[in-house]
Amino acid sequence: MTTTRKTKAFYVTTPIYYVNDIPHIGHAYTGIAADVLARFKRLDGYQVHFLTGTDEHGQKVEKAAAAAGEDPKDFVNRVSQHFQDLAKKLQLSNDIFMRTTRESHYKSAQDLWMKLVDAGYIYKGSYAGWYAVRDEAFYQESELIDGKAPTGAPVEWVEESSYFFKLSAFQDKLLKFYADHPQAVAPESRFNEVIRFIQGGLKDLSISRSTFKWGVPVPNDPDHIMYVWIDALTNYITALGYPDRSSSDMETFWPESLHLIGKDILRFHCVYWHAFLMAAGLNPPKRVFAHGWWTNEGQKISKSSGNVIDPYELIDTYGVDGIRYFLIREIPFGGDGDFSKRALIARINSDLANDFGNLVQRVLSFVYKNCEAKVPTPDALKPEDTAFLEKAHALLETLRQHADVQALHKMCESIWEVISYANRYVDQEQPWALRKTDTARMETVLYVLTEVIRHLAILAQPIIPIASGKVLDQLNIPADARLFDCLESTPLKSGTTLNQPEGVFPRIQSVSL
Ligand code: MSP
Repeated sequence: MTTTRKTKAFYVTTPIYYVNDIPHIGHAYTGIAADVLARFKRLDGYQVHFLTGTDEHGQKVEKAAAAAGEDPKDFVNRVSQHFQDLAKKLQLSNDIFMRTTRESHYKSAQDLWMKLVDAGYIYKGSYAGWYAVRDEAFYQESELIDGKAPTGAPVEWVEESSYFFKLSAFQDKLLKFYADHPQAVAPESRFNEVIRFIQGGLKDLSISRSTFKWGVPVPNDPDHIMYVWIDALTNYITALGYPDRSSSDMETFWPESLHLIGKDILRFHCVYWHAFLMAAGLNPPKRVFAHGWWTNEGQKISKSSGNVIDPYELIDTYGVDGIRYFLIREIPFGGDGDFSKRALIARINSDLANDFGNLVQRVLSFVYKNCEAKVPTPDALKPEDTAFLEKAHALLETLRQHADVQALHKMCESIWEVISYANRYVDQEQPWALRKTDTARMETVLYVLTEVIRHLAILAQPIIPIASGKVLDQLNIPADARLFDCLESTPLKSGTTLNQPEGVFPRIQSVSL
């Protein structure tokens, strides 16, 4: 079991973000979700590659640079840095921060283009239709609602010479692919949305622009730059060494790819991307999971409403673990949800400070004071001890099942079920009363609790890495004993010295709401 797990690979990506503006909560959300999965799989013995990054070309970015009075190159360097800083601040464990302005990415995007040309899927024509710069998307007349894109973005009429991709040739191939791979898009409602879109008929797609310059040049035709989405989507394989198709990263990671995206960019990731890859003779990604959107205190988040949530400010006020936990726990991954400070504070205070924080604090301080700061020595276990330990031992398998279907909120729920169980066990066993009546039993109860806390801290690392790390430090667990492999193989050794316990989750006292 352990050896097969070790040979497994996992590739997880976030969208690469447009650098037209500074990061907001939506960017933080996908990054955290991907990080939870990447950390989980690494701890579970997988070889992991985790990508996030910035999408730096296109009309939207060019316009933003012009508005800032900056050269696009300087502008994208500056704004991309905010996203790189945010990744650090969120404790993301990304293996690569991809940028589409990299030389290697130009080569990759141009190679993919040439593969499409060689396979006969690209032809030159001219485009006349609607374009929404905000979405970087072409729209049919019939799709417009009150003269705007279905997303509400303003559209402009575009007439220009353009290359086209024969998307129309992929309708049946895509339907067949999805019939054979029903797990390739999740949640199921999004899968159905993709199928409906394909069944509605696919028109050839304009894939170059010739009225501005900020993009990857089309091979052999310098008057054209690539449509930003064909350039951007290719980043996922550039990062694995493409155009070298047999690079070890392509072979190891591409078959195990999971793209996490927001629900608004489904069509690009589940129709266009798959068709480009099929046309180039490459396999589509293994799975695309589209999450929902956050509102802010019940309102749609938009720059014009002035209610954009700044992730930096949140982290500074509430701490990174608190934000990570809240975003993952508060709404079922895949659904929409509302962000409110009241809900955030309630989660931090009740789940983190009260349930987990107090459990750890009261048990470890008690052990520290009453067992000479050492892991206690258990006597014979009673059935209630064994039942409790079994709960903790079963947790890993439950979390694996949730992680494999990206049920991130359920990962939190399952961990917190064991935390609640542990709090009930403390109340029932009353170690403080046993101190006066039966110290052997007291040591047993405390050993079992400390051992369960070790499990909880190891398994919570992907979600709340800082606090879990502190608990594991207090338990004196070395870095190499924090892997999931060690959950059962390396139980706590009685007599091991503990470090001075300190609170890991401060309560949020008062914050202006
Ligand atoms: N550059 C493209 C992605 C290219 S991937 C090859 C892009 N960039 S973006 O900067 O606009 O990123 C948007 C991401 O943020 C999307 O996944 C989108 O769903 C997400 N969100 C934007 N607003 C959001 C919320 N209010 N809530 C949650 N996520 C949101 O699209």
